[in-house]
Amino acid sequence: MNRNIIYFDNAATSWPKPPEIIAAMQNYMQNIGGSPGRSGHRLSIEAARIVFDTREKISQLFNVPDPLRIVLTRNATEALNIAIFGFLKTGDHVITSGMEHNSVMRPLRAMEARGIDITVVSCDSEGILDPVNIVKAIKKNTKAIFITNASNVTGTVMPVSDIGRIAREHGLVLCVDAAQTAGCYPIDVIEMNIDLLAFTGHKALFGPSGTGGLYIREGLEKSIEPICVGGTGSRSEVEVQPDFMPDRFEAGTPNTVGIAGLRAGVEFILSKGVAQIKNKEEKLVQMFIDGVRELPGIILYGQKSMELRTPVVSFNIAGMDPAAVALDLDERFGIMSRSGLHCAPSAHKTIDTYPVGTVRFSFSYFNTEEQIITSIEALQKISKSRI
Ligand SMILES: Cc1ncc(COP(=O)(O)O)c(C=O)c1O
Repeated sequence: MNRNIIYFDNAATSWPKPPEIIAAMQNYMQNIGGSPGRSGHRLSIEAARIVFDTREKISQLFNVPDPLRIVLTRNATEALNIAIFGFLKTGDHVITSGMEHNSVMRPLRAMEARGIDITVVSCDSEGILDPVNIVKAIKKNTKAIFITNASNVTGTVMPVSDIGRIAREHGLVLCVDAAQTAGCYPIDVIEMNIDLLAFTGHKALFGPSGTGGLYIREGLEKSIEPICVGGTGSRSEVEVQPDFMPDRFEAGTPNTVGIAGLRAGVEFILSKGVAQIKNKEEKLVQMFIDGVRELPGIILYGQKSMELRTPVVSFNIAGMDPAAVALDLDERFGIMSRSGLHCAPSAHKTIDTYPVGTVRFSFSYFNTEEQIITSIEALQKISKSRI
């Protein structure tokens, strides 16, 4: 690992990964290698055990009652595609927010072209959503609410529990995009009334890229058409897709090496506890915000409360292009950030940073206070050089 690099791009993908993840992937490649659920030999059985154990650990993390409710996918995007394309039918109305990632908005817009009616509920300039506006948006034909658990632009956490109650009261399906929260923010699908939970493996769960999943509440799978069908290793005597979970949505040989890494990532999260991870990250965010707040020209976006934000901070320096700031941070200070529009155009419109975007710092459990201090000093220099 390059010790001179300060990696603040964990909302895109987390790095570094705990060594256990790399060891688990290497162990699978070197010592196991079999195809899960396909053959009867011991290596295939061992691979299937890894996959099942991953479902169990994910279930533990999100309080899912049955591990077979977890469909393993390539990423959150695929999970959201299954939920959106598989569940919605022409004539349905859906509600979403003005803070969504394109992984929600693009499939919804594609469905709009097929006769789905969409209401986008606006959020305030900090990205905060008032649940009352969800209630106001409900129509006779409303079928579902698609909402991010937290914005990837501002880190603002959405009032998912309140929205869950509203969904229950009105008989709507609640689909939550947990790409930015799984692993770093508490999620309880039962308590929060979540019917569909899409998550990705390579961000705060510390898994490799190419991993993710979708929780589907019991009974709902029958209302969701699979978007990909094929071999599952089960019911091989028939030429139609099995209708049981999770095989209905898992066609083709899975990314077993990735899943082995994801399992180790979730184990890591469970061993530390989400509360401890969140606590550490909150301190880093608070320290960073306190350190840059007064810098000349600094504009910070998002929620003031630490409780209701993930470790994502978007900012700009007045009069400077965010891309130029990010480039300077990389070249002069070894700080990796992301700049521009973060795949969420309406979120940028909400916080008034469209179309230039922001510089985004996103922290992980592995960032340190020293790194925060270095980044504050770097921004001090950059903001001074502006004048
Ligand atoms: C809020 C949100 N939703 C969905 C995604 C998509 O995740 P993935 O690229 O892993 O599918 C991201 C990734 O940046 C995200 O931040």
